[in-house]
Amino acid sequence: MAEIQGLLRTHNCGELRASNEGQEVVLCGWVNKYRDLGALHFIDVRDKFGLTQLGFEDYKGDLSILKQCALESVIKAKGVVRKRPSDAQNKNMNTGEVEVQVHELEVLSRADVDNMPFFPHGQIDASEDQKLKYRYLDLRTTKLQETLALRSRANQKVRNFLSSHGFVEVETPILYKSTPEGARDYIVPSRVHPGEVYALPQSPQTLKQLLMIGNTDKYFQICRCFRDEDLRADRQPEFTQIDIEVSFATQDYMKNLVEKLVSDLFELENFNMPKMSYDEAMRRYGSDKPDIRFGLEHMTVTNLFKGTEFKVFSSVIEDGGLIKAIFVPESVANFSRKDTDGFVNVVKPYGGKGVAFFKVGDDGRTGGIAKFVTDEIYAELEKLYPDDNKGNGTWLFFADSNPDVSHASADALRRFLGKEFKLQAEGYHFLWVYDFPLLEYDAADGRFYAKHHPFTSPKVADIENFLKADPSTQQEILKNMSAEAYDVVCNGYELGGGSVRIHRQDVQSKMFQVLGFSEADAQKQFGFFIEALRYGTPPHAGIAFGMDRTVMMLAKTDNIRDVIAFPKTTSATDLMASSPSVPAKEQTDELHFTWLKK
Ligand code: AMO
Repeated sequence: MAEIQGLLRTHNCGELRASNEGQEVVLCGWVNKYRDLGALHFIDVRDKFGLTQLGFEDYKGDLSILKQCALESVIKAKGVVRKRPSDAQNKNMNTGEVEVQVHELEVLSRADVDNMPFFPHGQIDASEDQKLKYRYLDLRTTKLQETLALRSRANQKVRNFLSSHGFVEVETPILYKSTPEGARDYIVPSRVHPGEVYALPQSPQTLKQLLMIGNTDKYFQICRCFRDEDLRADRQPEFTQIDIEVSFATQDYMKNLVEKLVSDLFELENFNMPKMSYDEAMRRYGSDKPDIRFGLEHMTVTNLFKGTEFKVFSSVIEDGGLIKAIFVPESVANFSRKDTDGFVNVVKPYGGKGVAFFKVGDDGRTGGIAKFVTDEIYAELEKLYPDDNKGNGTWLFFADSNPDVSHASADALRRFLGKEFKLQAEGYHFLWVYDFPLLEYDAADGRFYAKHHPFTSPKVADIENFLKADPSTQQEILKNMSAEAYDVVCNGYELGGGSVRIHRQDVQSKMFQVLGFSEADAQKQFGFFIEALRYGTPPHAGIAFGMDRTVMMLAKTDNIRDVIAFPKTTSATDLMASSPSVPAKEQTDELHFTWLKK
């Protein structure tokens, strides 16, 4: 496509070839390198497209201008393309066959070279914080420019794909009301409504459902979401979703749609996404987002150790806890004492108190808890190991009175080993995880929380029992109900999540009651939504993909900050703009807020 006219340059710095020889060109860019060879002077000028060598043999003016061309200064050079002699060609540069003999040079912006925080093209290494503070310098690197372009292409593909399937892109408000996705809200005070606040949406969940009630049929939005929650390598306080909602859709429709979208975005041919129920995922991997790129699956061994003399296990069994095992064949790893001692540090953040083990070698069972493993127990363990390759290796055990801790510890160590020993297969390994529990009971709070969110439908077969269940006396019934909820998992990351929604007003009101909302609270927070369900609601379902995580996969990085132009740190600060910051007194006065700085 022809370039739109009006730029200061005629060509970019990655464009010129021998075929351009003799042309007069204008290049603009940053000084990447300056060489003064006495009689000869060279500048490598750089832009996002590449590098071109400038020579000054034909320069008409005063060459002292080159003194102003400090590294990272922005220059404009006019000259003639000359083919370099063959011994001076640079095969490592796309433009290495040529140079531009400059006859006019202008310094458009002189860089303060003595105070540069760092040089983005590698001369000085900078800390992560320094790079975030001067993000605009880091953005000059090819790596970040390529990621921005990748993200832009992904956005285009999503828009094209969904538009071509009849989806309408609708923008929804940012100044809104609390939307329960399980995190805290960011709130915004209002000047015109003293003492009142808006909440920034954790997602457009209620809005996209209202769009279905409003006859939109198929909605999507590439939207910003805001959640005040503890951050991790794959979480930011503001992030982007590909948000989707469809009227009259079943879970099958959503899976078919997602398969097509994923195969388009990730360029996977004949893509069929395997399915795994939540229960199976927990049993085999201890996680609802299993990394299925490698084995080392979990085995449940609680019953095998009934009556054991090993106190740790016997007390876990008495408390109704869970013992899981992983077998690591010697072909994968032969752990030293230091390794097995170190495993406790991997499970500690998940509440694990330790990792019991024993080894099987040519000299039999040794180390750790070997003396508690009788021949009978060992024979049963071997039967559980899913491979024929029984033999030498290490058995690792994760036991806790709280089954969640056993699952999470075994998951953490499995992931650690997968990474440490590079067991993960190449490529994208997607999984559709379904049949999530509807609710989670928090014993400490004595109340239920929605596992996905409060708008998720119980399984159709459970709806009548759900309506009848009393949350204060019939907790077991509610704890065992499954939801019409599903997640899309890729390489151990939760990429997306969604559900078939509640479309009956009585079911939605009951859900708020089960979740501990008083009638008045439910009315205050969601009255508008519950009312909307009364006026004719099509059954509907939806999903939201984390766009940042999707691009992380495409860019093959583990760090969400790599795929966001201006990311925040793990403590939710923007180091570049020093945000958040204390507001000016005039601002808080106007907003009718008293500000207490800690
Ligand atoms: P959920 O809360 O599962 O569902 O979010 C959907 C997807 O958004 C991404 N995500 C995040 N990415 C980066 N940083 C975060 N802090 C963050 N939190 C979530 C994840 C996740 O899978 N309204 C529902 C969707 C629906 O039911 O349709 C929702 O937001 O990739």
